[in-house]
Amino acid sequence: MDTKPNATPSQADQKIQQEFNQWAAAGRGDEMEDHHSDITEQTIALMDLQPADRVLDLGCGTGWASRRLAKLVPEGEVVGLDVADEMVRRAEQASAGIKNVRYVWGSAESIPRPDNVFTKVLSVESFYYYADQGKALDEIRRVMAPGSRLFILINLYSDNHYSLRWVGELKVAVQAHSETEYISLLKQHGFKGVAAQRIPDRSPSPDTYSGKWFKSADELKDFKRIGALLLMGTK
Ligand SMILES: C[S@@+](CC[C@H](N)C(=O)[O-])C[C@H]1O[C@@H](n2cnc3c(N)ncnc32)[C@H](O)[C@@H]1O
Repeated sequence: MDTKPNATPSQADQKIQQEFNQWAAAGRGDEMEDHHSDITEQTIALMDLQPADRVLDLGCGTGWASRRLAKLVPEGEVVGLDVADEMVRRAEQASAGIKNVRYVWGSAESIPRPDNVFTKVLSVESFYYYADQGKALDEIRRVMAPGSRLFILINLYSDNHYSLRWVGELKVAVQAHSETEYISLLKQHGFKGVAAQRIPDRSPSPDTYSGKWFKSADELKDFKRIGALLLMGTK
């Protein structure tokens, strides 16, 4: 692991780091693989990955998506970046022996990598935690190679009304914008060919639901039917 981010983490990043270090310690990093697997696989299928691609997995958590990506770019490499060092530590442990993946501790708002290096960027369920999404987009664009493509996948956005229930309940601040607002934001930050797509979650749903986010199994099914928002753009 790169042991120190290249800039002093902002207060917002430090809060996120604390919160997600706790998630990691509680084993919730691994649980997210189950929750995000179907929508991520559909997104990876749209990425048109080439064997020599250099891919950034932004907000990689415990690195399960990084490991899947690494198999698809055997001549390239995958860098998983996360602001929570405990997530990064677990990602490294789980990736021992995989030669073309490495993990970096740092913030999306100050990515410790040189300009123009990545040919694809994937970010799964992470972008709405960024306190300054514009700054993060500038950083992402800086590290992307000319002509490379960005894929941001999020379940929390204002067009999926169920996801707005999380906003006041999560222990850290989150952004809840609409598809239209996000499209403008990506364009404002220099991305071309900006497009959005809904990715329904096709994983099996339980017949009964006893968790805290939905009133019934039918609500959960409806949330999954509406699906995640995939934002795409080219540098
Ligand atoms: C809900 S988890 C998703 C993790 C992983 N992508 C997955 O699907 O399992 C969000 C992740 O984004 C990371 N994160 C949040 N804000 C970040 C930032 N500013 N820079 C880098 N990572 C960030 C968190 O530490 C956390 O690991």
